[in-house]
Amino acid sequence: MQDKSKAWSGRFNEPVAELVKRYTASVSFDQRLAEVDIQGSLAHAHMLGAQNIISASDVAAIENGLDEILQEIRNGEFEWLLDLEDVHLNIEKRLTDKVGDAGKRLHTGRSRNDQVATDVRLWLRAVVDDVIVGIRQLQTSIVDLAETHFDTVMPGFTHLQVAQPVTFGHHLLAYFEMLQRDAERFADGRKRINRLPLGAAALAGTSYPINREMVAQELGFSGVCENSLDAVSDRDFAIEFTAAAALLMTHLSRFSEELILWSSPRFAFVDIADRFCTGSSIMPQKKNPDVPELVRGKTGRVNGHLVALLTLMKGQPLAYNKDNQEDKEPLFDTADTILVTLQIYADMLRGITVNKVAMRTAAAEGFATATDLADYLVKKGLPFRDAHEAVARAVRYAVERNCDLADLNLADLQKFSPLVAEDIFAILTLEGSLGSRNHIGGTAPTQVKAAIARARNAISA
Ligand code: ARG
Repeated sequence: MQDKSKAWSGRFNEPVAELVKRYTASVSFDQRLAEVDIQGSLAHAHMLGAQNIISASDVAAIENGLDEILQEIRNGEFEWLLDLEDVHLNIEKRLTDKVGDAGKRLHTGRSRNDQVATDVRLWLRAVVDDVIVGIRQLQTSIVDLAETHFDTVMPGFTHLQVAQPVTFGHHLLAYFEMLQRDAERFADGRKRINRLPLGAAALAGTSYPINREMVAQELGFSGVCENSLDAVSDRDFAIEFTAAAALLMTHLSRFSEELILWSSPRFAFVDIADRFCTGSSIMPQKKNPDVPELVRGKTGRVNGHLVALLTLMKGQPLAYNKDNQEDKEPLFDTADTILVTLQIYADMLRGITVNKVAMRTAAAEGFATATDLADYLVKKGLPFRDAHEAVARAVRYAVERNCDLADLNLADLQKFSPLVAEDIFAILTLEGSLGSRNHIGGTAPTQVKAAIARARNAISA
């Protein structure tokens, strides 16, 4: 009755039910950990050899066997068996088939519990490095576009109502800042990913004279997980990664919302290159911004993965529980989603055409320089609240006449405050308004140029 292919078959009187086998197996998705699994096994074997826990010839046999298996996997020749449950048992069985007893000695002083935790950390560490590269590439696209438009006027909005003029370059750099924080978050989380669980074995450590620091060093970990129970059951690093990913997607979702609005003919601020859009099967005039819409949609999916992982952990007693096998699919999908989103976004921004006339017209239409008029009166001695009131009345007067503040003549403007003089007209221009916000963080084109220089420095550092 015993199924000798199972690592734990000796304990059981009947084989696992077919449906249960399929329900509990993870090999269909965890096979993507194969390369890091082999890397971890090699480091473990080297340590077992160095500590005289296994012989040098066993280590050599394990090295050769794992090397062949790695090639088989890379060539797509490796046969993954559902019966062998997961990536770990598949590789170990193949190794034993190839090198016999040496393969059976590999698992000395180790458990799949510390093995899988090690694999996921190795895999995620490499993903984080790719994500940071992807963020840098997107930031470069943003800075390039901002540089072209360092003095392009557009309306800045609050409540989606025209508020004050800003430059398009300044607006874009707001996203640079968000991505800068995202990169910081991923890099910070990487410190906590980069610790070694191996040596914790099933949960309590092992009685063999292992050397965990040696394994940590070979695998490039900065240190070892300090408590064996925590080492096998901690998935904080996966949750942190997914939280950082959800925030990254949230930023790109906001950006997408703006691109969708701006590319609508009602705004017509930007045109997204055709290769990022699709048409409608029924309405011939349509050009739909599918890519930003999907980024917005996929944000929901990544947020969902974060909630899935948090929920996965909340009821688990120490130490390892099979629940943890459910950490992989959300994590893999999060990584896949953000990596491709970053890449497509960087490309898409290179294909954006800006309609400066439409931006300028919109900025000129919404009384965007009303605050400048108020500030002008304040500088002439009027308390700000009184200036606010005077300008509000002037705006109402202009609305009634269907014109802008700058279209009113001096006599009209003076009805609202005798402090207004001829020099007001320079202030009420869009360029006057922009140029006056001349401090770090402000929208004056000279400040935008300086911010671009700082941004370029930050991403090359
Ligand atoms: N496939 C398992 C996982 O993904 C590996 C660890 C299983 N350990 C165990 N004792 N069943 O978590």
